[in-house]
Amino acid sequence: MVVPMTDTRTVFDAWWGWPPPVLDPAGPYAESVTVLAWALFAMGGVVTAIVAAALYVALFGPAKWKARIGGEKTVWIMGVAFPGVVLAGLLVWGLTLTASLTDPIRGDEQRIRVTGHMWWWDVEYLDAAGRVILRDANEVHLPVGRPVVLELRSADVIHSFWVPNLSGKEDMIPGRTNTLKVQADRAGHYGGVCAEYCGGPHALMGFVAVAHEEADYRRFLAGERLGPSGLAEQQDVPGALPDMARRTAAIARGPAAGGAPDGEALFMASGCAACHRVEGTQANGLSGPDLTHLARRQTLGAGVLPNNRGTLQGWITDSQAIKPGNRMPSYDLLSAQEIAAIAAWLDTPR
Ligand code: CUA
Repeated sequence: MVVPMTDTRTVFDAWWGWPPPVLDPAGPYAESVTVLAWALFAMGGVVTAIVAAALYVALFGPAKWKARIGGEKTVWIMGVAFPGVVLAGLLVWGLTLTASLTDPIRGDEQRIRVTGHMWWWDVEYLDAAGRVILRDANEVHLPVGRPVVLELRSADVIHSFWVPNLSGKEDMIPGRTNTLKVQADRAGHYGGVCAEYCGGPHALMGFVAVAHEEADYRRFLAGERLGPSGLAEQQDVPGALPDMARRTAAIARGPAAGGAPDGEALFMASGCAACHRVEGTQANGLSGPDLTHLARRQTLGAGVLPNNRGTLQGWITDSQAIKPGNRMPSYDLLSAQEIAAIAAWLDTPR
């Protein structure tokens, strides 16, 4: 299902639509998982029907039938042979499928390294030699129609990477690199989540996977800010702003003081640079999301809010109210004008 980011408040809303993303594959890897899921539903249905029929016969059937289903032979066939064969078949199917999703194919496919952090995603796009060509966060961009190999790691505890429309689910385990292949055959936005409990705001550790046509993908990797064919431009959606952001934005719009504060200087002076990196500046922190390309992201706080100037101000002012327990302190010690200046600086395409 395509996540219409301009209409929804978070990536999580898409999960409540129909069909659910698990049953709406957008590419071959997700398709193979969906086929297995339907096969499991079907077999579960058959087994339930057989058990119900046998129970009915045992309770109410004629004596002749009762004698037949109560025999030792029935126990051996239905209790041992049948489940043995079915479960062995499913085991082979499941192991083969897992191998096909995680086998690290070598070729010219795009490789993306995704590192799980409490509670956000570090995303690095690699060239053929394994060098990082672009660093971003909380979004995974891929080209339409060809497989992408993800190198999944963790910086702290076990997380799990899951975009049901694009592939299966794979754990991110500290100290090792797991691979997972994903592919989208139609352009669009797909919702992703962390699928392994990883503490406090685990349920708010989301991201967006964006599938682009090839030309747009090249432009994305080159760092361009794309129009509607790729990434949506920033839009103000006043109705979707939390109260805090609306208030902050209103204050910021108020009587303009003479001369706007310097956003970059405030960012450095307020300690933001200790955790965040902004390429081409002195901000070099690595323990929080890279903010270089924040201006072209769809969401804030790892899928929690749509990204626009107002929500960005609200997030900086009181991220703890929006995503309780996350590692960014609320900056309500700064004035609304100062926060507006920082937001404006971060919201500049670079
Ligand atoms: Cu990360 Cu749950």
